Amino acid sequence: MGRDSILQLLGARTVRLAPMASFTNAAFRRIAVQCGSGFVTNEEIDAEALVHRNRFALEMARVEPADGPVAMQLLGNSAASLVPAALHLAEAGAAAVDINMGCPTPKIVRHGKGAALMRDVATTASILSALRAALGDLPLTIKIRGGWDESQPNAVEVARMAEDVGVDAITVHPRTRAQRFGGRAPHQVIGDVVRAVRIPVTGNGDITSLAEARQMMAETGCASVMVGRAALGRPWLFDEAYERMDAEARGAYEARVVGEHFDLIEALCSPRQAVMQMKKHLALYVSGRQHPRGWRGELFALATPTDVRAVYDRLSAAPLAVSEERRDAELLPA
Ligand SMILES: Cc1cc2nc3c(=O)[nH]c(=O)nc-3n(C[C@H](O)[C@H](O)[C@H](O)COP(=O)(O)O)c2cc1C
Repeated sequence: MGRDSILQLLGARTVRLAPMASFTNAAFRRIAVQCGSGFVTNEEIDAEALVHRNRFALEMARVEPADGPVAMQLLGNSAASLVPAALHLAEAGAAAVDINMGCPTPKIVRHGKGAALMRDVATTASILSALRAALGDLPLTIKIRGGWDESQPNAVEVARMAEDVGVDAITVHPRTRAQRFGGRAPHQVIGDVVRAVRIPVTGNGDITSLAEARQMMAETGCASVMVGRAALGRPWLFDEAYERMDAEARGAYEARVVGEHFDLIEALCSPRQAVMQMKKHLALYVSGRQHPRGWRGELFALATPTDVRAVYDRLSAAPLAVSEERRDAELLPA
């Protein structure tokens, strides 16, 4: 049952937005879907924070009918917090619950969360079994890395364990925790996982276009592809029609999408949060453009949504200053 519905969700549109903390909230998810992204996963929510009814966690855990089907993702290190948090998300209307087993951030793995779940496969199996039993028919999915480090490349072992305990689908970002975002993602690991299990596998890592996503599917056999960093500031990447537009049509399309994104941010976030979110996405939307000297200082000082929109109108009209490739490199997290 869970497996059938996850297959339907993945099959409808196969290239989809990856979860990214503090970016893939409801506003950006809706924009990505509007541009053509398939089934999206929300940014990570800490299970303990949700169980303790932290205000921000509760806010992130809201699912509105207008979101469409959305997988809600949890970070956690034990069934004691992950099970009640997953039940909260099920009740809230999540179409699937995804467990983050890939976050490499030291302050997360230090507490046994994120990629640390790949180290102790037996304990993680018991956590996933408890989640499986609690969630009934609701799809349960996981997002993994290639392993903890070069000495423990265990994506295949973890995937087999997950299939055995009843996980419905797996996303693989094939770098190890130790690699974080360095070097090229070794896509052959995705193919290794595809061949090892019967449940659908989503490939992820360094994809910057629909053509590259199709190539990843052909080369690895994965059922869908997640795109993360390349979609920041470029959600139109999911739209095949955009690729065929001339420069003028693209400019008009981009301005409309950015305007609608800013409208959604204003509608869905508190006024203070809204300006912060708009500034964050503004920097991405205009990255790679020729900027006036000191523009980051100007961006920092923007205080109202109207100011942010005016700066977007001005800067988006400037010519590109760097190649698309260098622009992608600018988006890499530190
Ligand atoms: C800023 C940022 C935040 C991220 N937050 C999450 C997250 O909350 N949950 C998750 O599973 N992965 C997270 N990731 C990892 C991405 O989902 C993805 O696996 C990774 O960026 C590789 O894909 P890409 O090369 O297409 O960006 C994050 C990545 C970035 C850059």
